[in-house]
Amino acid sequence: MCGIVGILGNHEAAPILVDALRRLEYRGYDSAGIATIDKGRLGRRRAMGKLVNLSDLLMHEPITGKSGIGHTRWATHGAPNVVNAHPHRAKDVAVVHNGIIENYKELRDELTAAGLVFETETDTETVVQLCMSYLDEGMSPIYAAAATIDRLEGAYALCFLFDGEDDLLIAARKGSPLAIGHGDGEMYVGSDALALAPMTDKVTYLDEGDWAVITRNSLEIRDAQGKQVSREMRTIKADASSTDKGIHKHYMMKEITEQPTVLADAIGHYSNAETGAISVPGLDIDFTSVDKITMVACGTAYLACSVAKYWFEQVARIPCEVDVASEFRYREPPMSDKSIALFVSQSGETADTLAALRYCAGKVAKTVAVVNVAESSIARECDISLPIHAGVEIGVASTKAFTCQLVALAAVVISAARARGVLDAKGAQELRDALNSLPGLINQCLTRKNDIDKVTVELAKASDALFLGRGAMYPLALEGALKLKEISYIHAEGYASGELKHGPIALVDEHMPVIVMAPKDALFDKTVSNMQEVMARGGKVLLVTDQQGADAARDGVWKTIVMPPVHDMFAPILYAIPAQLIAYYTAVRKGTDVDQPRNLAKSVTVE
Ligand code: AGP
Repeated sequence: MCGIVGILGNHEAAPILVDALRRLEYRGYDSAGIATIDKGRLGRRRAMGKLVNLSDLLMHEPITGKSGIGHTRWATHGAPNVVNAHPHRAKDVAVVHNGIIENYKELRDELTAAGLVFETETDTETVVQLCMSYLDEGMSPIYAAAATIDRLEGAYALCFLFDGEDDLLIAARKGSPLAIGHGDGEMYVGSDALALAPMTDKVTYLDEGDWAVITRNSLEIRDAQGKQVSREMRTIKADASSTDKGIHKHYMMKEITEQPTVLADAIGHYSNAETGAISVPGLDIDFTSVDKITMVACGTAYLACSVAKYWFEQVARIPCEVDVASEFRYREPPMSDKSIALFVSQSGETADTLAALRYCAGKVAKTVAVVNVAESSIARECDISLPIHAGVEIGVASTKAFTCQLVALAAVVISAARARGVLDAKGAQELRDALNSLPGLINQCLTRKNDIDKVTVELAKASDALFLGRGAMYPLALEGALKLKEISYIHAEGYASGELKHGPIALVDEHMPVIVMAPKDALFDKTVSNMQEVMARGGKVLLVTDQQGADAARDGVWKTIVMPPVHDMFAPILYAIPAQLIAYYTAVRKGTDVDQPRNLAKSVTVE
């Protein structure tokens, strides 16, 4: 998704803007640009591709000035090229925008009919042209921006900069997050706190529909009705150094190897300091009266929910429905006011998940967010917000967030099961001990990274791959396929092992690697049968299992990855590690952009 930054500073803005944009690179982009007030005049520079191209341009054609805005663009309307790159400008006003203006065609037609000529295919140009038309009518910059914002429909985070106005930014948010940073005689705007981290940790998040008039020494926020409001200024822990890759070639590998540490943090957060028992602070829910759990998310977060469905039903004995947010929000299912709706999101800003939350609000007993960004929109709009403590996740492919989401969900499941009297203290302690063993087990997996790397030599040559799993390992098979496809661009599908004979086995031949995620659990023998059906047809099976499983079924398989033994319930957490590493090393061999795969963004804040 696009990234926005703005600054009213006391130093040259251009390098600060580019540096702030660098901390938004993880969101994915295809062009970048900045605009500044250079000796009172509006100046602009834009470039295709990575930020280094913008930096090169600024070396040869610098723009000065201490106030400015910047943008990394992930193309929605209009091809990724310099003309469509932000900031967009119409004479005396420049704007950077994240989101989609849904009524841009209507506005564009109106302005074109009034004689205005557009130079781009973008929805954003409509914003600057409309604002300029109000300036031409004699409105002040503040009123022109307010009148423009009033006409816009859709999702947007916007920041306006005006010619001749060295001490004024207008910011607005609707659907896409926007943070305002407070400095010492300076003010900043950013898509998230990470962008602002080196400048300040004092941040005010705009609420839905808010817009703000910002000067170096003042901040005036108005709500959607134009009423002046105040929003809390928070101190944010977003640590600028956490955007550093350290010794790793990619953020993704850094984040894979952080999992023992961050899972320990997450488990610690969900363990009572005195007794060590699993507990979920703030989980103010009477589970004895809950008749259903609905979980809604997207992508990997959805697959974490799919794993947790098995847990809620098998351990807590609560009926559980899981759906992808983009379907749920339009399916508009009837909701019980005795049910709980859970929304899982690493970014806490995914548009479809946020829309699903807004559908459920008021219809269910409680809405619960499971997020990695405590101040995110989903966190703020839910009745209860549960942090996952994964730390900043930069790689577009979600890794540590997935396993930490599962820890948080497991804690809710155990709490619910205890409250409903279907899990006794001994059983809860057994699960707690099993959870506590995970960081060490993950460490053991990570020591075998090189063995997994070797396995990917052949895999990288494949054009298709199949992941199989049963029970809670089925969503993990889906996650393994998602990881592989999104960063290596190999077409990969995850399937329930038991479904093989209902179609997918037609795909199997000697060119199709079949990766079977199967610890030696109660369903293992059934999965082995499926595996043998694959091998009987020349299929190459990569079996990911434990020692017992390997001893029982490694004959004939192409490759085996042996995992340490783990409690059945938490096998999906542990086996996520080889799934992540298989995808990672395959992508590295294929030379794809591991951290920012083509066409993808870290946070999908538009539909
Ligand atoms: C997973 O690797 C992808 N990056 C993507 O599917 C992601 O999980 C999805 O977009 C949901 O994002 P969220 O957790 O921030 O809501």
